[in-house]
Amino acid sequence: MREQGVSAEMEWDGLDEACQHVLALSATGDAIGCGRISADGHIGRIAVLPEWRGKRVGSSLLELLLDYARSQHYVEVALGAQIQAVPFYLRFNFAEVGEIFMDANIPHIEMQLCLKDL
Ligand SMILES: CC(C)(COP(=O)(O)OP(=O)(O)OC[C@H]1O[C@@H](n2cnc3c(N)ncnc32)[C@H](O)[C@@H]1OP(=O)(O)O)[C@@H](O)C(=O)NCCC(=O)NCCS
Repeated sequence: MREQGVSAEMEWDGLDEACQHVLALSATGDAIGCGRISADGHIGRIAVLPEWRGKRVGSSLLELLLDYARSQHYVEVALGAQIQAVPFYLRFNFAEVGEIFMDANIPHIEMQLCLKDL
């Protein structure tokens, strides 16, 4: 929220309780990364503390969310990717869908991943 200037009103959208969450912890038990997936297969809130980026924490969070989606037999998962994060999701074979849109004053694009053949 601080890094990207997202307001508390936008961040706390009331959907957390209906989502499954992943939380990455350091060896000393500090929270260093997070993510969530809703019952309709929408992934969001993926974030890693700046000092922990580039160490595959984000990949581990996303892999766990995809494992969960497969365990629930979701056919597809989707997410609204911030434009600068698109290359990260392309590595997992997500595909861009539709036009760029603004959310919390940040440009995003919808991305989808079909799970049924994976
Ligand atoms: C995007 C984010 C979650 C990635 O987490 P991370 O822990 O740094 O990612 P990983 O270390 O698992 O990266 C895996 C690979 O993706 C690449 N990658 C990660 N973020 C990238 C980005 N923004 N652009 C291009 N490549 C990226 C890494 O270089 C790495 O490549 P490598 O395997 O060749 O080394 C993290 O940068 C972050 O929290 N950013 C700020 C919040 C944000 O943008 N969240 C996404 C909202 S949609």
